[in-house]
Amino acid sequence: MQEVLRSGQLSAGGLSTAACEGLMRQHTGSAHVLLTHSCTAALELAAILSEVGPGDEVILPSFTFPSTANAFVLRGATPTFVDIRPDTLNLDETLVEAAITPRTRAIVAVHYAGVPCDLEALSAIAHRHGLLLIEDAAQAYLSSWQGRAAGTWGDLATFSFHGTKNLSCGEGGALLCNSASLARRAVTLRDKGTDRQAFLVGQVPRYSWIDCGTSAAIGELAAACLRAQLEEAEHITARRVAAWVRYDAALCGSLPKGFQTPVVPAAARHNGHLYYLLVPAELRDALLRHLAQAGIEACSHYEPLHTARAAARFASAPGPMLQSESLPARLVRLPLWCGISDVEIDQVVAEVRTFAERLPGRARALGA
Ligand SMILES: Cc1ncc(COP(=O)(O)O)c(C=O)c1O
Repeated sequence: MQEVLRSGQLSAGGLSTAACEGLMRQHTGSAHVLLTHSCTAALELAAILSEVGPGDEVILPSFTFPSTANAFVLRGATPTFVDIRPDTLNLDETLVEAAITPRTRAIVAVHYAGVPCDLEALSAIAHRHGLLLIEDAAQAYLSSWQGRAAGTWGDLATFSFHGTKNLSCGEGGALLCNSASLARRAVTLRDKGTDRQAFLVGQVPRYSWIDCGTSAAIGELAAACLRAQLEEAEHITARRVAAWVRYDAALCGSLPKGFQTPVVPAAARHNGHLYYLLVPAELRDALLRHLAQAGIEACSHYEPLHTARAAARFASAPGPMLQSESLPARLVRLPLWCGISDVEIDQVVAEVRTFAERLPGRARALGA
């Protein structure tokens, strides 16, 4: 960051942006990476690149952050929500084909908690129906499916480097494109719809407005902050995965009936983004209160988007949404960060156990 300040270039497109994009190309194997100021901005670029408009439909899960849907609503398209799987909480690939209509243009796969969706199945469906596959990999940096990086299966993919993510520069994101033509257009869209990048390398004598774009690049100070994180990405991820594994070793199979720990399919490698429990809905708030009283910050999310106020105006949910409606009400995210110690994890586990043991008729552990 001091180098950036000394260089005098604080605006986008300097050495730090280039370094981040280079590191992301190395980590993911993608040839086309564009750093942005947020995953939201990257999703909005993806929506423009998809060329969706009024009357078009985009399939996505309801159990996600609003930006996943909002990006397509901004283009006038209609998000069509499909239910999630009860095990991974990811888009249920077995329900996707029934939701496809002649107006469907794209499928958006959100990799919840850094555990990838079944990308092989979703790619096959997208291919069969001539749809774009877009990965909202906001939470899935360095995750993979069948050994291939999350973010490289779709036509387009987005990452987040927001303060809540594994790697962060406060606000940051990236767009991955799997074709040179999409990437060329994305460079213009990111730069206010102008050919300024061509001007900067002397390809055109002046730059002008050539496409419908936005301002999605990231300033160099934030990019420098992210660069330091990306240089440590494997180490940071390994620390988080180790914390996740410690939680899982202590909790999986040893909680009362009605409690569920995360499920990771054999084809998936996750990045330790979140460790969560699904508990009986009537106990969720009591567990959050119990943990808060012990000084432990735990939380829940997301409001299913099909039940949100904006959904009535902008979206549709043609099929039953039983999992999307019931699972968030059962979800408790346990504290997990790169620097969490074994002692802290053990304290959280002990409090979860104390809570479970005090439940009338539930004290007998399943795995005990
Ligand atoms: C699945 C998902 N998509 C999109 C976003 C938006 O990311 P950002 O805050 O970088 O815009 C988030 C952020 O939490 C997310 O979890």
